[in-house]
Amino acid sequence: MIEAGDSAHPTVVLVHGYPNTKELWQPLVPLLVKRYHMVAYDLRGMGASSAPRGPAAYDVDRLGDDLMAVIAAVAPGERVHLVGHDWGGIQGWEFATQERFDGVLASFTTIAGPSLDHISIAARELLARPRPAHLIELVRRGRRSWYVLALCTPGLPTLAWRGPLGLGGWRWLQRQVERIPPEHATPSKTLAADATHAANLYRRNIPRRLLRPRQDAVARVPVQLIVPSADHFISPDYYDLAERYVPNLRRRTLGTTHWAPLIQPQLLARWVSEFVDEAEEGRPVRSSRPWVPGGGLEQLRGRMALVTGAASGIGKATAAALAARGARLLLVDRDAEGLERAGASIAHSHTLSCDVSDQRALERLAARVLGEHGVPDVVVNNAGIAVAGSFLDTTPEDWQRIVDINLMGVVHGCRLFGRAMIDRGQGGQLVNTASAAAFAPAKDLAAYATTKAGVLMLSECLRAELHPHGIGVTAVCPGFIATNITRTTRYVGRGETEQQHLAERVTRSYERRNFTPDRVAEEIIEAIGVNRPVAVITPEAKVMRALSRIAPGFLRRLARLEVLSG
Ligand code: NAI
Repeated sequence: MIEAGDSAHPTVVLVHGYPNTKELWQPLVPLLVKRYHMVAYDLRGMGASSAPRGPAAYDVDRLGDDLMAVIAAVAPGERVHLVGHDWGGIQGWEFATQERFDGVLASFTTIAGPSLDHISIAARELLARPRPAHLIELVRRGRRSWYVLALCTPGLPTLAWRGPLGLGGWRWLQRQVERIPPEHATPSKTLAADATHAANLYRRNIPRRLLRPRQDAVARVPVQLIVPSADHFISPDYYDLAERYVPNLRRRTLGTTHWAPLIQPQLLARWVSEFVDEAEEGRPVRSSRPWVPGGGLEQLRGRMALVTGAASGIGKATAAALAARGARLLLVDRDAEGLERAGASIAHSHTLSCDVSDQRALERLAARVLGEHGVPDVVVNNAGIAVAGSFLDTTPEDWQRIVDINLMGVVHGCRLFGRAMIDRGQGGQLVNTASAAAFAPAKDLAAYATTKAGVLMLSECLRAELHPHGIGVTAVCPGFIATNITRTTRYVGRGETEQQHLAERVTRSYERRNFTPDRVAEEIIEAIGVNRPVAVITPEAKVMRALSRIAPGFLRRLARLEVLSG
């Protein structure tokens, strides 16, 4: 047994899964030991525990007896916090729902450990209406669990694990497939024996629970469900019924493979400690639903959304549209007066003045937002300016300014809030305003188009990176929208009068086009609902997007046209 830390502190009991031992928790224990009394033990049949013979000895009720005995030895009379991984979590679901653990458990965190009852009930619900689609769905859900059949077949586990293929294969799997850092991917000396004995966990419990699920197994303690999104062995669908059976649930997504405690101990330590503290203080667990990218617009209700460039145009309209769907708004802009007006017109909004091109200011803003309001579910990085005119007239200062606002403002927004979303583990949506100029070149827009192409590509790359964390990313490419941007555009290489003349002329032509920001906002909202990768808004932007793919030569010729003459 591992026992560390002050026994006067709250006790956290760690239960490993298959085919590990208590050593699984070695990376996590040092991170929590200062604040908690940490206990980890070997499941029966594994590591230093004895190995009773026959499947019946591995019944979850016997495992419950073991946990009771451990608690009686290390924390008698105390309510402990149970943390389980894999089989540690699977058995924990039983204990968290049994009356006999009332007054023994204070909270339960399960990492990559679904409830067998939930898996069985969900399967039965599909089978109750046996259509081809439901049967396909069942196979899809079960396909990652092929190994369970192998482990339940008498004799097969012994054969598989005792041979060199078993151990060598395990080492290879841990390093190459599961991406466990080499220092933690070292199998225990007892692996073959442990894995053979503990196959009885599957043989005894899985058929019994799948055949006779407990329909009334409601959790009696707060449950923290941690789902590794890249788990090769357990389908994320197995957790679907958790909401139904846990009144006090916190669900988090971790962008790792199955052996999360060996891969992300830092983040897990933070989540365990937050959850344990809340349970200790009797604070109700905020049963915040995770944000599901593409999960529809209903989920906007009660969410927090942050919009930059919210004092005017597309940003202001998007903030208003988000508020109309029930979101609480944080409006960010450097224009204090405009911001005040926007704040007055948008219900449930809070204004924050900030220049997004100032990295430090944005970092301070993010710290304040996270401290005072929590992690926003939706962040719209929209603030932007335009610079138009010849490339050779565009000064290094012009470049610096537009890159700092249009590109780096978005980079920092994604960096700061993307990190916070990952650390919270409950998903989110990043929306970045690019432009049709990102894919349609124009001789008068070198600086602007370059920054917007950067925003589009940043969004595409980020979408791939953040996908395992349950975070969606959308790039918005509007087209010609009648906003204030045409008045504030800097037309380089022009005198003051010509500058004004151009601003008026371009503004008039945008007004004649008359595509209003609120129409853009509705399209942005729709894109958020379905987690669209790139939202191309106006018809002309859609045509340019199509041309960029099917007739790029034609688009290059269009780019040569003199748009700003006169
Ligand atoms: P807008 O000028 O009406 O609004 C832009 C807002 O961003 C303003 O409130 C401004 O104060 C704010 N802002 C500018 N620099 C800032 C900074 N450094 N820090 C904080 N706030 C700052 O313009 P619009 O059209 O609503 O623009 C919004 C976004 O849409 C921009 O990124 C723009 O490039 C983009 N876009 C606009 C198109 C259009 O035709 N209006 C077309 C394609 C993209």
